[in-house]
Amino acid sequence: MSRFYITTPIYYVNAVPHLGTFYSTVVDDALARYHRARAKSQGLDPKGNVFFLTGLDEHGQKIERITREKGVDPQLYCDGIAEKFKAAWERFGISNDDFIRTTEPRHEAAVAEMWKRLEAAGDIYKAEYDGMYCVGCESAKSEDDVDLEDGQKVCKIHRTPVERVKEQNYFFRLSKYAPRLLEWYAQTPSPVQPESRRNEVRAFVESGLRDLSVSRQKKSVSWAIPVPGDPEHTIFVWIDALTNYLTVLGGPEAVARGAGQAAFWDAANHLVGKDILRFHAVYWPAMLWSAGLPPPKQVFSHGFLTVKGQKISKSAPATKVDPNAIADELGVDPLRYFVLREYVLGADGDFTYESLFQRYESDLGNDLGNLLNRTISMAHKFVAGKVEGSDEYPGAADAKQEAERAWEEFAPSRALEAVWKIVREGNRYIDEKAPWALAKSPATLPALHGVLGRSLETLRWAALMVAPVMPGAAREILRQLGREKDDGSWPDKWGWPGGVLTDPKPVFPRVEPERQTALIAQWTGTLAAAATPAAPAAAAAKPVPAPGVDIAYDDFQKLDLRVAKVTAAERVPKADKLLKLTLDVGGDPRTVVSGIAPAYSPEQMVGKTVIYLANLAPRKIRGVVSQGMILAAGGDEVLALSGLDRDVPPGTPIR
Ligand code: MSP
Repeated sequence: MSRFYITTPIYYVNAVPHLGTFYSTVVDDALARYHRARAKSQGLDPKGNVFFLTGLDEHGQKIERITREKGVDPQLYCDGIAEKFKAAWERFGISNDDFIRTTEPRHEAAVAEMWKRLEAAGDIYKAEYDGMYCVGCESAKSEDDVDLEDGQKVCKIHRTPVERVKEQNYFFRLSKYAPRLLEWYAQTPSPVQPESRRNEVRAFVESGLRDLSVSRQKKSVSWAIPVPGDPEHTIFVWIDALTNYLTVLGGPEAVARGAGQAAFWDAANHLVGKDILRFHAVYWPAMLWSAGLPPPKQVFSHGFLTVKGQKISKSAPATKVDPNAIADELGVDPLRYFVLREYVLGADGDFTYESLFQRYESDLGNDLGNLLNRTISMAHKFVAGKVEGSDEYPGAADAKQEAERAWEEFAPSRALEAVWKIVREGNRYIDEKAPWALAKSPATLPALHGVLGRSLETLRWAALMVAPVMPGAAREILRQLGREKDDGSWPDKWGWPGGVLTDPKPVFPRVEPERQTALIAQWTGTLAAAATPAAPAAAAAKPVPAPGVDIAYDDFQKLDLRVAKVTAAERVPKADKLLKLTLDVGGDPRTVVSGIAPAYSPEQMVGKTVIYLANLAPRKIRGVVSQGMILAAGGDEVLALSGLDRDVPPGTPIR
C-alpha cells in the first residue's frame, strides 16, 4: 500500500455547492475513504497514508467584479461563502484533511515561492499581451474558442462576450515544455485519464503551444497576489489556484525537499472536470517542471452532470438540483450512493429524480435494506439471534477483488456494482435455501445456521465495502449486526465472526409513490403538476436508461419475464385507474395491481395472455400487495397490452 493524495479542484466562490460540485467532491471523498480503509486493514495509519484536499479559489477578476457589483468587501464576501462551503461539506460527510483558501497567508507565500522558482528557471519574461479573455473561464481565448453573436465575440462555454486585453504582462515559457508534455502523456499507464482525455490534451499540445500570459496590471486586476518584486502587477489567477495543491504540503520549497507531509506529492491525484483539464494536464505539469518539481501522478477528468442535457450550473437556473433538499428527504448517503452508482466517472451523466427514486427503492430498499431486514428478523425468530458458523461463499472474495480493482482505477460505479453482486446473490441464496423450511426440523439446524451466517457475513462485507460511499448507512448496518468495531476497515477473511444483533430497523425507509410524485413536483418547482392526481404506481414514470446507454445482457437477465394468463379481474375501490388482476403463471396464482383501468375493463381482461414481470419487489398499492407487474405500451396513459402472437402455457419464460 502506498500513499494516496487526492484533490478536488478549488471552487470559485461565485456559487455555493450544487449537485455538480457535490459530485466532484463526493467522488474524491469516497476514494479517500476507500484508501483509508485499505490502509487501516493493512495495519497502517490511515492519516499518515491518505491525504484529501478541497478548498476555494478566491482571487481573480470574476470575484473582484461580483464583490464590486455587490458593493461588499471581497475578503468578507469570501469569508461568508467559505462558511457555506464548509457547512455543506460537513453535512455531506466530506472527510477532507485540509481546506485551502487562496486568500490565506500560507497560500500567498507558496505562490510567491512558486513565482520565484519559475523566474529563477528563466521561464518568465515581460512582453505585450494583446488578446481576448473570458472572465467566466478566467482564461485567454483564441479565435477557436469564440463564436460570433450579433457582431460580438462570445465565449463558447459561457456565451458571454469576451474582453480585449492589451497590456504589458509577464509570460511563462509554456511552449518550451511541449516535447516533455508529449513524452509524459506517452507513459503507460497514462498520467492523464481517461484515455480519450489524454488524446484530447495531446492533440492540443501537438497543435502548437503558445507562451502563457501569467500576470495582469494591478490597475486592471487588483484582487490577486502581487508579483514578487513588481507590485504594479498581479499574478494570474490560475497560477495562483494550481499552486494550492502544494501549499497544503508546505509550499514548493518543502515539496522540493520532500520530507514529512511534502512526501505526499509523489502520490498526487487531481480529479477535475473536463472543462479545466487543460489547466491541469498542460499548464500545471509545465509549471512544476519549471519549478524543479515532478508532475502529479495522475490527472483524472470527470464529465458533467446535466439536466435535460444541459450542464448543471449556477448560471443555468433550469438545471437547479438542490442536494440539500434531496438529503433532507432521503438522507445524505442515498444521494452519495446515487451519483457514484449511476454515473460512470469520466462520462457525462443526465440527472433525473425518477432514476434517483428508482435506485433508492430498488438498490437500497429492495436489495440491501431487504437483505438486512429479513436476515436479522429470521435470526431472531429461528435461532434467538445467535448464529453460529456460515456457509462458504467464494463469490464474496471475487467481488471484493473486483471492487478493489475498480477503486484503484477510479471507477466507483463498478466498485458498487461488485458489492451489489453479493447483495443480490445474498437475497437469492435465502430464497433458494428457504431458512423458514430449515427451521422446521432439528436435523436441518446446522444448515439453517450456515445460511443465516452466510447472510450476516454478506451484510458485514457489503457494509464495509459500501462504507466509502455511504459511511453513515454502513455504520448503521454494522450497528444492527453488532459489529461497530469493524467500521473503517476493509473485509478480510470470510466467516461470520459473531455479533449481538439488534432489532432490525429500516435503513432506507420506503417513500410511497404518491410522496415521490409530490416531492419531484416540489423540487422541480412544478407544484401545479402535483395538484393533478398522482399516476397509479403501475403506470408511474419508469426511468429508462438515457438513449444510447446500453445495459449489459446480465442486467437484462435479472428480469424474470413470464407468460401469464389473467384468470380474474376487479376494480380497486376508490382508485379510478387501478385493476386488481389474478394471474396464472404456472404455479401459485399471483396478484398484481395495474394502472390499466382507463384502457381495459375487468371483463376485457379476463382470459387475456400478458407478459408479466415476476421478480419486481412486491409493493402495497391501495391496501393490496402487488406481486410484480404486467407490461403495457404507453407512458402515463396505457395504449395497449403486450401480448404474444400464439398460445403458450402460462409460466413460460420470456427471453
Ligand atoms: N476555480 C476553478 C478550479 C481551480 S483548480 C486549481 C474552477 N472552479 S469551478 O467552481 O468553476 O469548478 C470547479 C469544478 O466543479 C470543476 O472541475 C468543474 O468541472 C466542476 N463542476 C461544475 N459544474 C459541474 C457539473 N455540472 N458537473 C460536474 N462537475 C461540475 O473551475
